[in-house]
Amino acid sequence: MQIPSTKLKNGTLLSVDDLDNELVFALIKLSQEMKEVITQKGRISLLKNKVVSLVFLEPSSRTILSFQTAAARLGAAHILLSGQNTSMNKGESITDAVNVVGGYGDIVVMRHEDPELAKAASSACPVPYINAGDGGNEHPTQALIDVFTIYENLGRLSNLNLLVGFDALQSRSIHSLVMLLSKFDGNTFTFVTPEELAPPKYLLEIIKDAGKKFSIESNLEINKKIDVVYVNRLQEERFASNELFEELRYKYRITPAMLSDKKCIVMDPLPRVDEVSPECDFLPQSKYFEQARNGVPVRMALLTMMLAE
Ligand code: NCD
Repeated sequence: MQIPSTKLKNGTLLSVDDLDNELVFALIKLSQEMKEVITQKGRISLLKNKVVSLVFLEPSSRTILSFQTAAARLGAAHILLSGQNTSMNKGESITDAVNVVGGYGDIVVMRHEDPELAKAASSACPVPYINAGDGGNEHPTQALIDVFTIYENLGRLSNLNLLVGFDALQSRSIHSLVMLLSKFDGNTFTFVTPEELAPPKYLLEIIKDAGKKFSIESNLEINKKIDVVYVNRLQEERFASNELFEELRYKYRITPAMLSDKKCIVMDPLPRVDEVSPECDFLPQSKYFEQARNGVPVRMALLTMMLAE
């Protein structure tokens, strides 16, 4: 197995902006090899002398468990700081906490609700740092899983027509995937959102500056030109008012009828709430559970690239 030497600035993955296309393809190749390792022998001892420090201060299922599984399958140990029972409840700052926890291990993987504090923590971190979700801002490792899943299914990351819904304002997974795919030639983005959840201006600027096309629609209609339908639940915890969430939550939903005769793949970083009907689960287009499983080999590839000697 050839481990490409990482070109991440300062050993930090804070944003998909830290990735270039060459690095993305190197990670995809290594993720494919990790997938083979998982099916053929289950483990590979590439990181047997390493400790991965996990700091999770927002809810997580897939991200935390797939990082833990990735560490286990690479022979690394992990430590975990999470929940309400930490010294941050005594008033300790997140920068102090990351400075200490980083010093116990060889890399920090952190999820935090505040993007500014996450950034400050990454600068205070004495070892490499991975952003595992910073509030409503970014989720770069999810974007890597998403492009890996797209590449495995469609064989390319360029000339893709994406339909993106439904909370483009607050979904960090949408932000990171759109930013990352804006770097590849010929991609177009059709956002389907209620007016209140339209993509943030900065995201539209990034698409424009990259010379790519987008449109914003209020009707959900999947046309035959769409290659990837990428949806994420409305981010309930980030709504200013519960009334608005309740008003919008059932507005859009992917159903089997919308997918009949369509070649597109359907993706969702999960958890699924209202955005995809469970009746879609066994359709050949539905890739969201495969996408979730890809979290392990992709995070194995990333940890190896950032830590292997
Ligand atoms: C996403 C997240 O945490 O942003 N989940 C994940 O990591 N797979 C999506 C979400 O919570 O809706």
